[in-house]
Amino acid sequence: MPLLLHKLNLTHFRGYDALRLDFAGAQIVVLTGLNGAGKTNILEAISLLAPGKGLRGADLLDMKNRLASAEDLWAVAAEVETASGLPMRIGTGLDREFKRRLIRINGRDARSQNELASIISAVWLTPQMDRLFLDGASGRRKFFDRLAFAFDEEHAARLNRYDKSLRERLKVLQGEMGVDPVWLSNLEAQLAADAVCIAATRRQLLEQMARYVEKLYAGKTLFPAPEISVSGWAESETGLRAAVDIEEDLRARFRDSRRADMLAGKSHEGVHRSDFLVTHRDRGMPAAQCSTGEQKGLLVSIVLAHALMMQGEQGFTPILLLDEVAAHLDDARRDELFRYLLSLNGQIFLTGTDPEIFAALRPAAMFCAVEPGRVGIANKGSTRQQAMP
Ligand SMILES: Nc1ncnc2c1ncn2[C@@H]1O[C@H](COP(=O)(O)OP(=O)(O)OP(=O)(O)O)[C@@H](O)[C@H]1O
Ligand SMILES: [Mg+2]
Repeated sequence: MPLLLHKLNLTHFRGYDALRLDFAGAQIVVLTGLNGAGKTNILEAISLLAPGKGLRGADLLDMKNRLASAEDLWAVAAEVETASGLPMRIGTGLDREFKRRLIRINGRDARSQNELASIISAVWLTPQMDRLFLDGASGRRKFFDRLAFAFDEEHAARLNRYDKSLRERLKVLQGEMGVDPVWLSNLEAQLAADAVCIAATRRQLLEQMARYVEKLYAGKTLFPAPEISVSGWAESETGLRAAVDIEEDLRARFRDSRRADMLAGKSHEGVHRSDFLVTHRDRGMPAAQCSTGEQKGLLVSIVLAHALMMQGEQGFTPILLLDEVAAHLDDARRDELFRYLLSLNGQIFLTGTDPEIFAALRPAAMFCAVEPGRVGIANKGSTRQQAMP
């Protein structure tokens, strides 16, 4: 069964004061409107239903509607049907102290965002990600780790714990908490244990995705085939040696780098320094040296291969949030992308300024006209997917 977002309610969120949307089971939802109308804001709201900082990685305070009064808080609430057919009510918003994101699941407060991972997963492509292959490794790690969230529910929790331990270790090293060797060793043991699992999940994700890249390219496709690898000490050791041995070596590496880390104010060892390398397979060209359209094509290929993998291995696809994804694609590639999207058994949200470029998605898709502060439903779409032509 597909994972479906049925209803979405936004309160004091970005440009919306109160918005109620009912997607009525539609699997493809097209949001169109002028620049600044509020399309990306809706995708951002949906992205906040999954663990993490959302598709803009924005500050929680920036999400509150600027016109709302001082005591108002923003909230995003949704009715979701999980891949196993369970109806769930989930909500998120800023807490009264304006410090952290609260999560509610079926009317009760969740302990952490990580509880969302077993209910919903979302993957997105945004115009900002057009620079994914050009900018630093952190964006690529975030992108591929998010693909892994869908695949391994524990991955998000482990990464959060890992980052927290890493910060705490630096504080201890820099004497803020007084150097306590036992505490340091415990932190490093936790870091090493999490790092081994994080590295293994990343390797497993890439190995499985590679099989689906082959499937995707078994038929002829206009999108470039990506070859993806991950560089990092723990990732390269994974599979070569027993996990316990890698863990022990990692602990030693953390221990041996204490002094250098203290002096530099950063951690030199660990999976937070790994990078994902993408190559245009047929041209043997690193993604960073490909054209803008080719880079976009590689991103689309990765997201499609991941969706196919999820469908094949776990029986559902994450919710796809494709912001302005058609913009850099020529007509043939756009048509091909839409054919793939129609063949997926999952929910997909697309945005663009011109409804005409999405014509190939009619009548299956629900079309929504976004205007500042409000959204009109132009065409309800159908809940059934068309078979791939
Ligand atoms: N906290 C906020 N309060 C009120 N308005 C906001 C807030 N944050 C962003 N906005 C405004 O919301 C509007 C809609 O932004 P959004 O990015 O969703 O537009 P869009 O429809 O995706 O446009 P484009 O086609 O240019 O990408 C913008 O004008 C933006 O300034
Ligand atoms: Mg936008």
